[in-house]
Amino acid sequence: MDRTELEKFARPFASQWIAENVPMISGGLTVFQEALADDDREIIDDVFWRFIQNHEDPRAALAGGLESFSTISVDFLRLQGRFMRSGKYRAAANPETLQELYADGERMRGYYLDGLFLTYALWPNHVQMLKFFRDRFLARLPENVSLLEVGVGHGLMASLMLEQLPGSSYHGIDISSHSIDYAMENFSPALKQAGRVKMSCADITDPALKPGHHDAVVCCEVLEHVLEPDVLLEALSRSVEAGSFGFLTTVANMEAEDHVYLFHDADDIRTHITRGGFEIVEDQANGLPGMEDATPRPLNYSAIVQRT
Ligand SMILES: C[S@@+](CC[C@H](N)C(=O)[O-])C[C@H]1O[C@@H](n2cnc3c(N)ncnc32)[C@H](O)[C@@H]1O
Repeated sequence: MDRTELEKFARPFASQWIAENVPMISGGLTVFQEALADDDREIIDDVFWRFIQNHEDPRAALAGGLESFSTISVDFLRLQGRFMRSGKYRAAANPETLQELYADGERMRGYYLDGLFLTYALWPNHVQMLKFFRDRFLARLPENVSLLEVGVGHGLMASLMLEQLPGSSYHGIDISSHSIDYAMENFSPALKQAGRVKMSCADITDPALKPGHHDAVVCCEVLEHVLEPDVLLEALSRSVEAGSFGFLTTVANMEAEDHVYLFHDADDIRTHITRGGFEIVEDQANGLPGMEDATPRPLNYSAIVQRT
């Protein structure tokens, strides 16, 4: 199947697979929305394509990915219910469980990275964050920018950056070798050969780490995974000059097996970002569909920032 055929096949396949196998998670997912805006549909199809592009059997690959996506979605619902009752992230009491997870190939390769990748096609808030990243943040950067990304994960943001900015170079840092290997495997053959990518397996909060100087920084969904987000923000701000752009995302009041730092609301997140050496240029704070009026209020937050 070529790209056009893959894109045509993926969305209907995903909605049918979810309707047949895990109908209880279908409420609110993008592929079940009756009126999908054209630009949403386009980025969702692009994410599905990036997910299956390197697989010989796209049907089997997408079915496996949807199984992983179901695992993290069901788990999220269970964990979020517990968080709403306790007001605490469970992993905060045992932060060593995060290192165990990131070192555990069975979990990282079994469901974590595949599942998280597909949230950018299926969870409405993640689709909005990805559009904001691509259309508002990447559009600001010059083509030959040198980028630092912390928390590479599945590599979706990296592949978008490298393709949209063909003269750019990329340095990714992730504490998990499984994330780095997975991201490298998912790049298109052209990107793998181009020699524009450097990866380092390291903890960004390690004071001995020297990430080097870059023109722009990206850090998506990592601030809530460290005990001291201020230390992470300071490491990011040290790696760029004043005036450089950055893109940051995180959550408030949203549980996951590896969330340890609890942000209370968007203003709380903004305070940390500003204290960490960045000015907020533009941001979005989207309540969780169906829980917009809940207390505490779960939300996804994303910001284009500039080093002060
Ligand atoms: C939730 S995933 C986010 C992946 C991707 N950026 C996204 O937005 O979907 C968190 C990633 O950050 C990495 N990570 C967590 N703590 C880290 C740390 N202290 N230093 C570097 N990477 C870290 C994890 O290994 C994982 O790949």
